[in-house]
Amino acid sequence: MIEVKNLSKFYGKNKAVEDLSFEIQKGEIVGFLGPNGAGKTTTMRVLTCFHPATSGEARVAGFDVFKEAQKVKEKIGYLPETPPLYKEMRVRDYLTFVAKIKGVPFSQVKKNTDEVIEKCGLQTYADSLILKLSKGYRQRVGIAQALIHKPEILILDEPTSGLDPAQIIEVRNLIKSLTGEHTILLSTHILPEVSMTCQKVVIINRGKIVAKDSLENLSQSGGLFYSLQIEGEQTDALVSDLHNLKEVSSVDFMNKNSLKIGLKEDLKTSIKIANLVYKNGLELSELKKETLSLEEIFVKLVFGDN
Ligand SMILES: Nc1ncnc2c1ncn2[C@@H]1O[C@H](COP(=O)(O)OP(=O)(O)O)[C@@H](O)[C@H]1O
Ligand SMILES: [Mg+2]
Repeated sequence: MIEVKNLSKFYGKNKAVEDLSFEIQKGEIVGFLGPNGAGKTTTMRVLTCFHPATSGEARVAGFDVFKEAQKVKEKIGYLPETPPLYKEMRVRDYLTFVAKIKGVPFSQVKKNTDEVIEKCGLQTYADSLILKLSKGYRQRVGIAQALIHKPEILILDEPTSGLDPAQIIEVRNLIKSLTGEHTILLSTHILPEVSMTCQKVVIINRGKIVAKDSLENLSQSGGLFYSLQIEGEQTDALVSDLHNLKEVSSVDFMNKNSLKIGLKEDLKTSIKIANLVYKNGLELSELKKETLSLEEIFVKLVFGDN
């Protein structure tokens, strides 16, 4: 549905994104994750034909974003970082207006408007002035305008930024309710957003992709390890025994009673580790299997502690 190949965008001499390549399949909901200034908005603006790339290729629903912008725009619903709302208009009037400028056939305008008002939970505020709405409800209007022409693809730029925690949950639920019907690319600089809403993630840092994978694979890519807590202090012999296990790839002291054991394979290793602790005359107080959290993986990828 979205194909990006070797895409670069410079602002004058400053490169905002460099050599990005990724693909999004129909029906996927993909998180575009990266710290502020990483190049998320720049990339989304290329995909939505707001500005051209400096080099590379991007296709949306099979159409080239440079050569077939009109076709691309028909396929895409876009929620920019700052939604283009006319605050002095009423919600329904604004959505009707957007439907018309987006070329929704006249006979469909009212139906589409009613549908997005319902989908986005705006019924109570349909006749309110946008300026009277809370930030959370304004964001719903922003999502409603992106949906009004029934696009296959939604591109949402930091849809929950600036909202309070309750509004964040509501907007996330709204986005989740749109999956299945739409292919969604959603940008964010906060990781929980991705883990709660998306199946896949493209992580970008300083204009370059540092990871693209399913959330499941990504959390496994950090590796599996045990954390081991012991009573007693004669740990040198234990460490050397642990190193001799073929399943173990690394042994690190966290403190004198606590070790972190990296594993190459998992099969029955916990029993072997426990046996070694007892063999060394030590008391095992905790043995816990862990994987790196997505948070730790993200920090590692973006701030590079490897
Ligand atoms: N219109 C612009 N002119 C010049 N530089 C820009 C412009 N927009 C963004 N940049 C720069 O490009 C980089 C990427 O910005 P942006 O795409 O907005 O990142 P993000 O959305 O991930 O926060 C940043 O270094 C930013 O300062
Ligand atoms: Mg941005």
